[in-house]
Amino acid sequence: MNRASAARTVRVATDPPYDVVIGWAVAEESTRDLLGERAAVAVIHQPVVSRIAARIAASITARTKLIEATDGEAAKSLGEAARLWDELAATRITRTDAIVAVGGGSLTDLAGFVASTWLRGIDVVHVPTTLLGMVDAAIGGKTGINTAAGKNLVGTFHQPIGVVCDLDLLSSLSPVRIAEGAAECAKCGFIADPEILRLLDAGPGDNLEELVHRAVRVKARVVGADATEAGPREVLNYGHTLGHAIERAENFRLSHGEAIAIGMVFAAEVSTAARGLDPDVVDRHRELLGRLGLPTCHRADAWPDLLRLMQGDKKTRGSTLRMVLLDEIARPVVDAPTEDLLEAAYRKVSA
Ligand SMILES: NC(=O)c1ccc[n+]([C@@H]2O[C@H](COP(=O)([O-])OP(=O)(O)OC[C@H]3O[C@@H](n4cnc5c(N)ncnc54)[C@H](O)[C@@H]3O)[C@@H](O)[C@H]2O)c1
Repeated sequence: MNRASAARTVRVATDPPYDVVIGWAVAEESTRDLLGERAAVAVIHQPVVSRIAARIAASITARTKLIEATDGEAAKSLGEAARLWDELAATRITRTDAIVAVGGGSLTDLAGFVASTWLRGIDVVHVPTTLLGMVDAAIGGKTGINTAAGKNLVGTFHQPIGVVCDLDLLSSLSPVRIAEGAAECAKCGFIADPEILRLLDAGPGDNLEELVHRAVRVKARVVGADATEAGPREVLNYGHTLGHAIERAENFRLSHGEAIAIGMVFAAEVSTAARGLDPDVVDRHRELLGRLGLPTCHRADAWPDLLRLMQGDKKTRGSTLRMVLLDEIARPVVDAPTEDLLEAAYRKVSA
């Protein structure tokens, strides 16, 4: 890994705006700076990052309470949110106090949700500890929990007051988790910044700081232009139309990164047929995502189910299936391809 010394900052131009700090060994100092003066701070964390959470808590000049949440996706439940509300009550967290969320995307989604609902909304600083969390989940203010009806159906828009990406925290992540985050980085590369694709070609572990910085910049730019997903933010769904359908059809046996990798190849195939995207760009998708250890095809007999799920996706408007396509790299467009065209493209990504 190449380690540069000074931390970098990316501004997210929401109202009010906030900063994403990216650097090495920045968790404690940057979190403390972002919090400013507080009487009390609750540090909610995943079990696996309890040591860094304790170090952050110890560095804050306020009354602090460490609260360990359930690990992984299971944390995103109403029961867990209710337990955290009880902990905040017992800790006497008031409107002018704050939450620090330390963990992967499921923790920041949960803690963000709890922060947005406690006393009708208190400040939260996110300290993402996975690559996916740094480049995606912790930025943009979408919070959520899961219900029996599905994932992320209950949630709020609640922007953090700051995000701290301490790259040292990624050293304990498994290659599978790195690939998960790299899939979202690749998405940012295809929709907005081709330099990201070149950095990924060299392997996500090299030039990690530059990679995270560039991917964060893409997400920040899109979110800054559309904080509540009213329109332009749709481009972040590149690869997600089929990806979400695969996740659901396979009952989440495939990870999100794996599912959107297949979804991106599919979207690129649709783009060649519907928008004249250069077929070399489709090859680029297969080569890059394959090298990252991500799948680029899916079983052929899944198509009827996948089409039905895509048509019911909450991100489609009315009955037409709208999806994000590419005219070329870094030129995304939203289009409504025909069913025949979609099926033909799926044949090209099916094994
Ligand atoms: N809000 C958004 O805009 C948004 C965007 C994308 C994804 N998400 C959500 O993010 C979640 C996925 O995020 P994720 O992949 O970070 O999952 P996660 O938070 O479930 O973390 C995955 C695993 O990595 C472990 N982990 C965390 N940090 C670690 C570290 N530093 N070293 C070793 N292990 C570590 C965790 O304990 C967990 O078991 C999903 O719930 C998804 O819905 C939200």
